Amino acid sequence: MNILVVGGGGREHAVIKALKKNQTVDKIWCLPGNGGIEADAECFPIKATDLDGILAFAKERRPDFAVVTPDDPLCLGLVDLLEEIGVPCFGPRKNAAVIEGSKVFSKQLMEKYKIPTAAAHTFTSPQSALAYLESCDYPTVIKADGLALGKGAVIVSSYEDAERVIDDMMVKKIFGESGSHVLIEEYLTGPEVSVLSFTDGNIVVPMVSSMDHKRARDGDEGLNTGGMGTIAPNPYYTSEIADVCMKTIFLPTIEAMRKEGRVFKGCLYFGLMLTPKGPKVIEYNCRFGDPETQVVLPLLQSDLLTVMQACRNGTLTADMVKFSEGAACCVVLASDGYPQKYETGYEIVLPETKEGEEIYVAGAKRAEGKLLTAGGRVLGAAATAPDLKGAVKKAYALAEKISFKNAYMRRDIGKRALEAQAGRETDKHISE
Ligand code: AMP
Ligand code: GLY
Repeated sequence: MNILVVGGGGREHAVIKALKKNQTVDKIWCLPGNGGIEADAECFPIKATDLDGILAFAKERRPDFAVVTPDDPLCLGLVDLLEEIGVPCFGPRKNAAVIEGSKVFSKQLMEKYKIPTAAAHTFTSPQSALAYLESCDYPTVIKADGLALGKGAVIVSSYEDAERVIDDMMVKKIFGESGSHVLIEEYLTGPEVSVLSFTDGNIVVPMVSSMDHKRARDGDEGLNTGGMGTIAPNPYYTSEIADVCMKTIFLPTIEAMRKEGRVFKGCLYFGLMLTPKGPKVIEYNCRFGDPETQVVLPLLQSDLLTVMQACRNGTLTADMVKFSEGAACCVVLASDGYPQKYETGYEIVLPETKEGEEIYVAGAKRAEGKLLTAGGRVLGAAATAPDLKGAVKKAYALAEKISFKNAYMRRDIGKRALEAQAGRETDKHISE
């Protein structure tokens, strides 16, 4: 079988490495891929948003299956177009990808179907938003409606802050049309959990839970990034909480989408907050998370391609998806200065990896036989181990062996999770 993968980050590298385990896979073509992915797939310089280019490629090469992972092509309807020319795809169609593409849509869906989430109001003019902000409680959260490179949610602590954000989003339109509608929502507190799930539109099978580390600096300080590291499983996400989420969030969401005539097939990502009043949805993503995928897929024991095909064909069953009991950690190495200004073009020296270690390349290109940095997040050093402590240690040991001139990494990926785990074990001990 020949497979087409659309995307070019660490997440796609993890997907490709998992797909390659299937013996029936002959070739993997990745558009556009990157200099590191080239070791595992044939890459072509066609951007993930160049729908015409991708379609022309698919017509010529006729892949047997396609996996579309980034949000933009999904929201633009790439899956619909590929399916139309007879290429079966993993990923939601445009009318279902809107669950991520429009925060106003997803908020209305949750309100209509009583899925727990932060209370929110939608505004279409800066005047009405500001009038509301004059009398609301702070902190509060302002979100641009559409895709905004993960930067569309801002927590504001005063009216003055809020005024600036409304001006940026609705008047200066720093996120373009994404800011023509904004949501202002209740500020929630509690640990955050990412739960990616496989769904064929009928049933939903959650993957192992994970925890992202979105801020640039240790101790969750600094600017928001695409994610500086991840661990799985997330110790806050107990089996009791998982049961509650299945009943109150996962199944109701899949059913709501079906009832709305927007059957969701693919990977639905639930960004959850475990609030004192129970788990609530912070956001939905219509795709695998990055860098969550880099810790979730290494723990998947089942064959990824088979599961993806079942999602597409509407034949998914819960027993098709098995995860190992172990844990995983991924430490992102970024170019120093990310997410703001940073330099690229430095040579990356990669070590050999051992069993249970993987390097997932995100922002790198190949030139004159060398691998050079080419982005903010350059790569992820990932490891699996029987327990979280071992996985964190192993991932950092691997990260230490990777070198490029301006490499930067957080030093505390997994720290909070390990503390939570230790706290829970102490509590259990006391109550026994
Ligand atoms: P989003 O783009 O919706 O995923 O939001 C990005 C981050 O902002 C989340 O991971 C949370 O840390 C934070 N956030 C979003 N919505 C809320 C909320 N209602 N209350 C508190 N924090 C939030
Ligand atoms: N790591 C968060 C995301 O993929 O949206």
